[in-house]
Amino acid sequence: MNVAVFGMQWGDEGKGKIVDYLAEKADIVARFQGGSNAGHTVIVGNETLKLHLIPSGVAQNKKLVIGNGAVINPEELISEITELEKRGFRVDLLVSERVHLVFPYHLLLDGALHAHQGNRAAGSTKKGIAPVYADKYERHGLRVADLIEMVDNGELPGYVHKMVELKGKMLHHVFEIEHNLDEQQILDKFYIYANFFRKYSGNVTDEIYHAIAEGKNVLFEGAQGGLLDIDHGLYPYVTSSNTTLGGLYTGMGLGLRCKNKNTVDKVIGVVKAYTSRVGEGPLPAELLNETGNWIREKGHEYGTTTGRPRRIGWLDMLEVNNFVMVNGADEIALTRLDILSGLKQVKICVNYAIDDVLVRQRLATGGAIQKCRPLYEVMAGWDEDISNCRKFEDLPVNAQRYVHRIEEFTGVPVKLIGVGPERSQIIPR
Ligand code: IMP
Repeated sequence: MNVAVFGMQWGDEGKGKIVDYLAEKADIVARFQGGSNAGHTVIVGNETLKLHLIPSGVAQNKKLVIGNGAVINPEELISEITELEKRGFRVDLLVSERVHLVFPYHLLLDGALHAHQGNRAAGSTKKGIAPVYADKYERHGLRVADLIEMVDNGELPGYVHKMVELKGKMLHHVFEIEHNLDEQQILDKFYIYANFFRKYSGNVTDEIYHAIAEGKNVLFEGAQGGLLDIDHGLYPYVTSSNTTLGGLYTGMGLGLRCKNKNTVDKVIGVVKAYTSRVGEGPLPAELLNETGNWIREKGHEYGTTTGRPRRIGWLDMLEVNNFVMVNGADEIALTRLDILSGLKQVKICVNYAIDDVLVRQRLATGGAIQKCRPLYEVMAGWDEDISNCRKFEDLPVNAQRYVHRIEEFTGVPVKLIGVGPERSQIIPR
């Protein structure tokens, strides 16, 4: 069975843990969009893995694949692999030869753009994501296969010269930033990266197509979350890739079926029991009070990639329902329910109102959302520590009610419930 896992909120839903759990039954774990802006935490025994580019299946020693829709900073990928291997993990990785590469000027431009965009800036992770995807669509980016070819035919110095000249002018004349981009240094590094990719890259579409056709189980790991989708998220407070189901098909180069097998048999939407996000933009159910601080500290809600404190809010069903729809989610994996233990009341944002008029559909602009007043359903909380519960019936009745309400609002069953950071702290239903 081929399963796809997507975040239904702002990223940071705890997909890494869910993918790690599901990876046991998979032969291949594949990523298909985003880059090192992603941060997936996987805890196995005494080991805490903070992954950015490597699919979370690494902790289960699975075959790992990165599809063409992703972008890679080679320096970060190599250091992630080195670190994992040092810690005894086997990294059996195939990177698509069509993946676009992040250059040092993308990192500088990311910061410059952020400053220029002012209150319409997404608050990027400064990993070069927007500039590298922009180069892809301007059709002068460099893919893994191009890098190898240019090293072989001697065209790489010319390419780097042209791009450093262009990006240098943008930094200097447009953004008025002094830079120290060094062509030779970039070249030296990219010659080394080319050798690395000779070993690790290939035709990912072909590989996955045949694996599925032969009956292997593929687990597709979405990065970020629905609200960060470039098309369906809260634009412009989004990332630069499609973080929803469509991104999987284009980002792997696959159709609905591989021979007579479905490419994706099941879609799992990962929902955190509350809302958290880093970055800018409106967040109607935000908790700007003691409860928000309490959840942030209890849940260690600080960004995996940037260390920034995450903004906290109640669960927002208007948003979750939208991404259940956009992804066609069959099931929900609810994460971090344990963090809510100890609250007298828990709230679910069930709708918004603007000037006392109900907002029934998702709004497209931050300006409109800014005007919204969240409407809550208030439920009784629970005091018990639930981190040792392993069956749904073991959960306090009020925690069970909370789960049931989510099922009622989404119309989708909650099949996995996370009650702690460990791989074993999951309640299957
Ligand atoms: P970028 O993807 O670095 O350009 O950042 C754009 C927006 O997406 C910012 O608000 C980031 O904080 C957010 N973002 C990007 N990747 C992640 C992620 O993996 N988890 C949560 N937020 C993310």
